[in-house]
Order: sequence, then C-alpha cells, then structure tokens
Amino acid sequence: MSEELKIPSHIAIIMDGNGRWAKKRFQPRAFGHKAGAERLEDVSRWADELGVKYLTVYAFSTENWNRPFEEVTTLMNLLRMYMKKKLADAKKNNLVIRMIGDRSKLDKDIILKIEEIEEVTKFNTGLHLQIALNYGGRDEIVRAVKKLANDVENNKLKATDVEEKMLESYLDTKEIPDPELLIRTSGEMRLSNYLLWQLAYTEFYFTDVLWPDFNKEELMNAIYFFNKRDRRFGGL
Ligand code: FPP
Repeated sequence: MSEELKIPSHIAIIMDGNGRWAKKRFQPRAFGHKAGAERLEDVSRWADELGVKYLTVYAFSTENWNRPFEEVTTLMNLLRMYMKKKLADAKKNNLVIRMIGDRSKLDKDIILKIEEIEEVTKFNTGLHLQIALNYGGRDEIVRAVKKLANDVENNKLKATDVEEKMLESYLDTKEIPDPELLIRTSGEMRLSNYLLWQLAYTEFYFTDVLWPDFNKEELMNAIYFFNKRDRRFGGL
C-alpha cells in the first residue's frame, strides 16, 4: 500500500485553532501560538521524511495586524526565535526557507533575518518551506500586477504579451509549483485570502483538529484523502 501511496509534492497549510486550543487549557493565546510553532517543526520534519518537496504555511496574514498589539508582538517574536533556531541549525535541518508576502511592512531586524535565512539555506537539499508572512492572496496579485504594469510602462514588455505564466513569474511564489493539497485545521472551511491564484486546482482537506493537536496520523489522513481524489484539471 505504502509503495503505491502518492505523496503530494507541494502541501499548503492554514494552521488554524491555536487560540481555541489555548482557551481550552485556560491559557493565554500566546501559549497556543507557541505550541503551534512547535507543531510546525514536527510537520515539516514528517513532510520531509515522506518525500514532500514543498510546504507552504500561513503564519501571518495581511489581516492579522488587526489583532491586539500584544498578540502581534507574540507572533513576531516567535518568528524571530524560529529563524534564529533554523539559522543556527541550517545544515542539520537541511531546509530551504523562503518567505512570501509583503515583507516591506515588517520590522527591519526581521527583514534582515529573512534575507539572511534565505541566503544561508538556498543551497540546502531538503524540504522547501515557504512561510507566508504579512501575506494576502489579493495583495500578492496586486503587487504582481503593479510590477508588471511598471515593466509595460518601461517598455520591457508589451501588454499583448501578458499571459498566465508571465503573471506567475511576478508572484511571490515564482518558480514554486502550485500546491497539490491544502490542509486547513480547526473546522473552518474558507480560504482566508490564502494563495488565491495558486490553489486553482488544489484538493482541499479540512479537519476539526486544532493546529497544536495536528499529528502524524492527521497528516497521513490528509494524504490518504488526496490519494482518493481523481485529479482531472478540468479534463475528462
Ligand atoms: C491561527 O490560529 C493561527 C495564526 C494566526 C498564526 C499561525 C502561527 C503559528 C502556528 C506559529 C508561528 C509560526 C512561525 C513560523 C514561528 P488562531 O489564533 O486564529 O486560532 P483561533 O481561531 O482558535 O483563535
């Protein structure tokens, strides 16, 4: 059975439910986010072991700035800690780490660390982990169209040359194949502005499990679900 199991080459995840997980334990939301960050470490290790090539996770959306200042600070500090750890251990973890989203709005020290981690990990050979930070699907498309329009204005290309592949090359995810499987935890069934362009033909898997409780069995369930789908891409 396992020999025939098709492993999706790219999995995208909406890691939802940290707050509810903490609440159930009478703990502050930060406690849930910390557990969520630990789960991300586990899931990227399992995915790598299974042979997944790309994992794209939603860590902070363009809408998450509307959360209380304290929670935004917690999430940014978790990211700082996460990057420090991965940088120190870049060889051992073998991950290629890349951030998608509008990084220009992040704190300067975070931008510098992102640049460093992308540079240091770019020749690694393991899982490609893309972290969506200050990311919104519509925002990504708007930024891409702006750059493209700018190139038209500067006569680098003609409006009549514009086609799908070209627009894709302006997206944050350029050179990364589209996700084959999307997982959203915590029972919510919506996209929340995630990878709107890239998810056009992706299989969606929703589970009630809260993100900090997501385990290897859950990941396998998502992969079994994927294996049952008949992907036709609009054909017959
Ligand atoms: C959704 O749960 C989760 C987030 C908004 C943040 C996701 C972040 C992490 C899992 C950890 C940080 C990641 C890195 C890379 C360090 P929620 O807070 O909306 O939960 P709720 O819906 O139960 O309130």
